[in-house]
Amino acid sequence: MSALLKLQNIHKAFADVRVLEDVSLSLAAGEVVSLLGPSGCGKSTLLRIAAGLDQDYLGGLELNPLLNFGRGCGIGVVFQEPRLMPWLSVAQNVGFADGWVADDAWVQQLLRDVGLQGRGDALPKHLSGGQAQRVAIARALYGKPQVLLLDEPFSAVDAFTRMKLQDLLVELAARYEIAVLLVTHDLDEAFYLSDRVLILGGTPSRLQRELAVPLVRPRDRRSAELAYLRGEALTELYQSHVL
Ligand SMILES: Nc1ncnc2c1ncn2[C@@H]1O[C@H](COP(=O)(O)OP(=O)(O)O)[C@@H](O)[C@H]1O
Ligand SMILES: [Mg+2]
Repeated sequence: MSALLKLQNIHKAFADVRVLEDVSLSLAAGEVVSLLGPSGCGKSTLLRIAAGLDQDYLGGLELNPLLNFGRGCGIGVVFQEPRLMPWLSVAQNVGFADGWVADDAWVQQLLRDVGLQGRGDALPKHLSGGQAQRVAIARALYGKPQVLLLDEPFSAVDAFTRMKLQDLLVELAARYEIAVLLVTHDLDEAFYLSDRVLILGGTPSRLQRELAVPLVRPRDRRSAELAYLRGEALTELYQSHVL
């Protein structure tokens, strides 16, 4: 199997409410894939299944054995809220998985990577929302994952911070060769960041369409090609009555 992570024919219901119907996707090494859909369509549900946080579903989750035997734990997760421990310093939050034996040199490197050098001793309450999310990204990278799963990670920050964090994410994913599965309801974000955009919608939700984004990086947010692809996605969202 060349994919790092594969979801096969996923069906998921909460009690008698069907949320996901026959959803399959795969993530290859080095890919950035977005899962785009409106609020409530089951994006978080699907990401939690991919992260192994929910085992109550029908279908298959296949992880490449390289993930388990490679560096660290293989999969990092970033949620919509930073979920930092308020009583721990920024550095302790980043190295949280290893507690008191955290690799401090690696923690400091990650803090530099996310633009928080010198802030390791600060407490989370002294950070802005964007800075807190940078800490959450550093914490997700601490285990040297090959796959990063992100659930609307930038939706709680202002538009300017969001653009900076998006650029940071693609830069770090490329530097550390991490495949990314990003859940978002933001069309601009999905097309700017991704190699492929998967559109989820309907009741219950199915994958409606997959759009490839064959544009080189660094990309220009203002490019006509991106605008065209966003238009295609909007057409799809209208046609499938998602909008
Ligand atoms: N633990 C739960 N119990 C019951 N229903 C849930 C639970 N989690 C999510 N749902 C329902 O499943 C649907 C999909 O939710 P979610 O995956 O959070 O959507 P999204 O992330 O796309 O906004 C929603 O209708 C939501 O109300
Ligand atoms: Mg969600």
